[in-house]
Amino acid sequence: MDDALFLHRFHFAFTVTFHYVFAQLSMGLALIIFILKTLALKRNEAYYNQAARFWIRIFAITFGIGVVTGIPLEFQFGTNWAQFARTAGGVIGQTLAMEGLFAFFLESAFLGLLLFGEKRVGPVGHWVASLAMWVGSWLSGYFIIATNAWMLHPQGYRILPGGEIVLESFKALLLNPWILWQYTHNQLGAALTGCFVVSGVGAVYLLLDRNREFGRLFVRTGVIVGAICSVLLIFPTGDGQGQNIARYQPVTLAAMEGLFETVEGAPLAILGQPDTEKQRLDNPLLLPNVLSFMT
Ligand code: HEM
Repeated sequence: MDDALFLHRFHFAFTVTFHYVFAQLSMGLALIIFILKTLALKRNEAYYNQAARFWIRIFAITFGIGVVTGIPLEFQFGTNWAQFARTAGGVIGQTLAMEGLFAFFLESAFLGLLLFGEKRVGPVGHWVASLAMWVGSWLSGYFIIATNAWMLHPQGYRILPGGEIVLESFKALLLNPWILWQYTHNQLGAALTGCFVVSGVGAVYLLLDRNREFGRLFVRTGVIVGAICSVLLIFPTGDGQGQNIARYQPVTLAAMEGLFETVEGAPLAILGQPDTEKQRLDNPLLLPNVLSFMT
């Protein structure tokens, strides 16, 4: 592989992987903070509020890391993928700018209110702030997923004679049908990550026999919300996403599954090392017919 290309890919992959770990956790925690604030409002018990305050502070840290790792990514579109940015900037620049202008400001303004304004805005105002912060963080994800959905399944654009791509329909970009399953699947994954972290912290409290009341609340909330997300991740969102790939990107699906030839009753490979030169999967552990059945 060309060295410069490898470095560009490695550089981008490193930053985006690092960014995503924190963005994903933030989006999951934002939902759980909103659930805790809703319980606090409904049941009028102080300890839900105390629990929410604890996670708001953790959120502030993961949000901060999400921001400082997200900004370099925007620059890397220009530095690492300059030709792509020049050609498709008229389309992807829209959603990336909207992420910064709408979602980021919504999320960060209301995070400030959640951290410092509880006494000023009162219980209902504080609950509204948690709702706005959740919406803001999930909107960040929406605009980024819309950008990626356009790259995977381009809609509403036109190619000019010089090769530049321009946007023809804003609606087609923002309501690209590819977004539906990609976004819902992704957000449920983020929520599940938050649930694992919250219930994990709760479990540590219980094992150490410290803050038992919070330990129980964290485990209960994490496990209940996490169980719902796990089911929805498989069906309908994972299934819908898989069907989109099978229909529109069969070669990607074949590559994901290590399948080199079109066959009837294709097996699902659980393990194996793809040998691209010999076009075969070495040491495969296969489930016969399962891939064809799934697609
Ligand atoms: C190439 C890909 C990406 C770029 C260029 C990017 C860009 C950015 C930028 C500039 C920020 C900081 C300020 C702001 O919110 O505008 C940010 C933060 C954020 N991004 Fe990304 N991002 C990328 C991938 C993702 C993905 C895949 C998701 C989730 C679906 C995501 C979700 C978020 C969230 C939730 C935040 C707020 C910070 C936080 O809550 O941790 N980003 N991103």
